[in-house]
Amino acid sequence: MMRLIAALLALTALVAPSGTAGAADAAKGEVLAKRWCATCHVVAADQKVGSTQAPPFSAIARKPGFDAAQVALFLLDPHPKMPDMGLSRSEAADLAAYIAAQK
Ligand code: HEC
Repeated sequence: MMRLIAALLALTALVAPSGTAGAADAAKGEVLAKRWCATCHVVAADQKVGSTQAPPFSAIARKPGFDAAQVALFLLDPHPKMPDMGLSRSEAADLAAYIAAQK
């Protein structure tokens, strides 16, 4: 598990343009979402199947009062129905930015 995460981080570091450290990156969020969230949530328009209990990311983004900062916080301390994925702060922010882009 840790090796997988390390490999993923190394990969995103290679792909990401330099100089964007710190800013939320929806492209990184997409990679994370497809890896960690797609078993339950529909995370992209071209994905057909998710679990019926978990809301699609597009529906989350369209909720009234949607706030990427709040979603990032939620992801650091997830709802009991969701596994704790041990996301870092920047991963949570990247995922929130990606969800925000699914409107
Ligand atoms: C094991 C299944 C599962 C996985 C994996 C999962 N989720 Fe969820 N998620 C759920 C369920 C079920 C809910 C709805 C909880 C509820 O309504 O009580 C939820 C709710 C949410 C919400 C809140 C939606 C709202 O209405 O405010 C967000 C945001 C979210 N998930 C993001 C993610 C992200 C990002 C990932 C990947 C890092 C992820 N989830 C992985 C099952 C999952």
